[in-house]
Amino acid sequence: MGGNRNIVILTGAGVSAESGIDTFRDGGGLWEQHRVEDVATPEAFQRDPDLVLRFYDKRREAVQTKEPNAAHNALARLEAKWGGDVLIVTQNVDDLHERAGAKNVLHMHGELLNAWCTACDARSRWTRPMIDRPACPACSASALRPDIVWFGEMPYRMEEIYGALRQADLFVSIGTSGAVYPAAGFVRDARELGVETLELNLERSEGSSWFDETRLGPATEIVPAWVDEVLAQALESGIR
Ligand code: OAD
Repeated sequence: MGGNRNIVILTGAGVSAESGIDTFRDGGGLWEQHRVEDVATPEAFQRDPDLVLRFYDKRREAVQTKEPNAAHNALARLEAKWGGDVLIVTQNVDDLHERAGAKNVLHMHGELLNAWCTACDARSRWTRPMIDRPACPACSASALRPDIVWFGEMPYRMEEIYGALRQADLFVSIGTSGAVYPAAGFVRDARELGVETLELNLERSEGSSWFDETRLGPATEIVPAWVDEVLAQALESGIR
């Protein structure tokens, strides 16, 4: 692939696994420890807000003790050096892509380090617990919730994502099981648009057969190797 072409990268929990953040569906993953219906739906928040707030407080605290890994670093390097557009669409709610230096990151499932005020709709960066019902910095109401897209809610910025896919030459899916739509459907959308597709994952995902190519291994190994490869090819073809 030439060096001035557009790349859309979808990332999932597997890209942050080696930073010590639990995935959802691997053995011992978050959805083995908690039922989705108890902690990740609007109904759960209505029914038992303390349980939901504690679940996200714990994850918010944990994520601030983790560091980006070689996969996050490699993607930031690609973004910085690539001649065309690179958009990282992440299902992850951590901030490890940004802390690795990536600038063009779209969080389709929200962000742990954001609070969303259900009274005034403002979003604020939030690093502390919410269990004690802190006041919204914008309107002072005690009506904050985690800025997380729960099951049954619409993922963020879908129009932008489909717009980027329409302009893309390559779609790469990294560290996601392909179990949750609409993200799981991006590979088929990309194919229909004639976009080349590549999967990088520890094991084959549910939609693996839709990809033109699959490379298996830990993200900290296969992502830097792929980035080195495409940057070297671009250099060779002289159009980076
Ligand atoms: P999953 O937990 O469903 O899948 C993680 C994927 O990463 C699996 O396919 C693993 O094989 C792979 N994996 C694990 N360790 C890896 C490593 N070291 N290197 C590379 N791959 C590795 O997580 P997601 O697909 O991100 O949504 O889950 C999608 C959505 O489901 C999440 O955003 C979340 C969840 O419910 C919401 O909360 C809305």
